[in-house]
Amino acid sequence: MDIHPSRSDMARRRTVPLAGDMTQNPILVVGGTGITGRRVAARLTAAGHPVRVASRSAARPFDWHDPDTWSAALAGVRRLYLVPLDGTRLTGPFLRRAAEAGVERVVLLSGRGVDDPDYLPPGHPAGIVHVTGEEALRASGLTWTVIRPSWFSQNFSEGYLGDWVRSGDLRIPGGEASAAFVDAEDIAAVAVAALTEDGHQGAVYELSGPASLTLAEAMAEISLASGKQVRYTPLTVDEFVTELVADGWNADEAREFGLALTPLARGLDARLSDGVRRALGREPRSFAAFAADAAAAGAWRA
Ligand SMILES: NC(=O)c1ccc[n+]([C@@H]2O[C@H](COP(=O)([O-])OP(=O)(O)OC[C@H]3O[C@@H](n4cnc5c(N)ncnc54)[C@H](OP(=O)(O)O)[C@@H]3O)[C@@H](O)[C@H]2O)c1
Repeated sequence: MDIHPSRSDMARRRTVPLAGDMTQNPILVVGGTGITGRRVAARLTAAGHPVRVASRSAARPFDWHDPDTWSAALAGVRRLYLVPLDGTRLTGPFLRRAAEAGVERVVLLSGRGVDDPDYLPPGHPAGIVHVTGEEALRASGLTWTVIRPSWFSQNFSEGYLGDWVRSGDLRIPGGEASAAFVDAEDIAAVAVAALTEDGHQGAVYELSGPASLTLAEAMAEISLASGKQVRYTPLTVDEFVTELVADGWNADEAREFGLALTPLARGLDARLSDGVRRALGREPRSFAAFAADAAAAGAWRA
């Protein structure tokens, strides 16, 4: 369920001027080289905000597993976007360090399904990271906004499904149900609004695209946009594990991957969410628009 500010809150929203010395405070983008983080960083930079990217490949390396790198990343920061790595062991300690460093506002990337105990198999790490991460955020005492996106459209272009799509045959245990894929550009736009405007504090924005598509329909859109024929071959989790192990995967990791896709197969991401409209006052971008942009950028060229 969406928890969000009312429409009257929308009307009161305004860009928070980073007045005085705040103009010099960088906004920290943790995970700022990833699918959502680099779009958040680009949008903030384009809007004139100073940005600091935190990741292992950043100019000043930040490693979640090396807390000695955290303080330098947090120095002078008042607002941050957080792509979590380990909600249980790392998000809480990092947010405590952030509060000590003077951070006031956090926008956390979580995931849809976090409020449904049956969304993923019990104990699946992809669910735990967000359940425990959101708990740590709420306990932090910081001002926060939570973003719970559906499956990213960019999974098919720059994400973990891209290689299958480029091969022309998406072979995964995704079933025949539809899902309301969301464009990472919309995720980033919501994150930037929550970082730079008033009126998003305490909001949980569940984000989806404007329509649900089956994987076969998604591949048809990509085929149309790219001119390259891509099909979808639904596998069982066991078939998927067998294929990945034949490709050299560790069997446990292959099964974990396959099980992470079961919400898709069960249709748990078919419903539409209105978080983009609530946060931005406009409709989300369509899958066709995503596919056109990704094709133009050469995402599916061999
Ligand atoms: N994909 C989906 O459909 C979907 C849907 C809902 C929610 N989500 C959630 O979205 C999150 C992923 O977000 P994303 O796609 O924007 O990120 P991403 O593309 O997976 O990138 C991960 C980011 O974290 C950094 N990173 C990885 N390991 C690190 C480490 N040890 N120390 C410091 N930085 C590290 C990476 O940079 P370096 O490699 O440079 O360190 C990169 O910037 C996950 O929590 C996932 O559950 C995904």
